[in-house]
Amino acid sequence: MTETESKWHQKNILQVADLTEKELTLLIEEAIVMKEQTKAGIPHLYLQGKTLGMIFEKSSTRTRVSFEVGMTQLGGHALFLSSKDIQLGRGESIADTAKVLSRYVDGLMIRTFGHEIIEEFDENATVPIINGLTNEHHPMQVLADFMTIYEKKGTLKGLNLAYVGDGNNNMPHSLMEGAAIMGMNMTIASPKGYEPLEVILKKAKIKAEQTGAAIQFTYDPVEAVTNADIVVTDVWTSMGMEAEETERVKHFLPYQVNAKLTHHAKEDFIFLHCLPAHRGEEVTSEVIDGSHSVVFDEAENRLHAQKAVLKKLMGDN
Ligand code: CP
Ligand code: NVA
Repeated sequence: MTETESKWHQKNILQVADLTEKELTLLIEEAIVMKEQTKAGIPHLYLQGKTLGMIFEKSSTRTRVSFEVGMTQLGGHALFLSSKDIQLGRGESIADTAKVLSRYVDGLMIRTFGHEIIEEFDENATVPIINGLTNEHHPMQVLADFMTIYEKKGTLKGLNLAYVGDGNNNMPHSLMEGAAIMGMNMTIASPKGYEPLEVILKKAKIKAEQTGAAIQFTYDPVEAVTNADIVVTDVWTSMGMEAEETERVKHFLPYQVNAKLTHHAKEDFIFLHCLPAHRGEEVTSEVIDGSHSVVFDEAENRLHAQKAVLKKLMGDN
């Protein structure tokens, strides 16, 4: 990673594809510095007096806590706004909510359902908007994932990432956008009916052609994992899809990430999972609690990757 100079052009981060290779690189570099500073007790108070509003329409452990602690470490403040408690949950419009909150806070992090909801916030807010997860995208998680891969492997370019599980979901979508930008090869393996959104896959493939990477889809998990440097999975039933759980388990069982499957990866592969995980479903304990797993470093990195984002979007750069 050599690019250190870049003109930051983003006001918001709604999806990974909003970022350039330079911007992603800069964020990872900044996050690594902030992690070192935090561990050394060196303060980085870039957002003194600033407030981040955090609207949650879905549950969260990592996103909520890492953003809130991140704002504290940056010298600012974070407000947890559950949609159950604010007037949004009683039918106040997204447009009015976005306009009103923009008069109080310096940035808004939103976790919601359809991606069009966050786009509507974005159209109506006058402060930076950060996607804290939609059904289709999870860019903050991918930033932390890429930071983790960089820490463990020293590069992203040219590595092989295998994603096994629900392809029609936020994590594989955001990972493939990011892999294409960073020149990392990615193969997604999912059962029939759970393929990634065609529009995202197509765009990622086109982008990958420019960066020398290959983004591929297969129904065969062994094919995806063969020769992988990084093996990734996620829950079979994402938030909001609970009604489909019994049906999904039937389709996803052959896609479990277990020792038999990871045997096909490179000897020094690393295992990533955004968490929360369901041991015995998408991943076995032998893998997630085994020596290749870096899931807790990955979770820790949410804090530092997001501080880099907050500084860029809300700081006086
Ligand atoms: N990985 C992740 O976003 O976790 P939470 O749902 O706990 O925020
Ligand atoms: N795909 C999962 C990610 C949770 C962080 C979900 O949307 O529930």
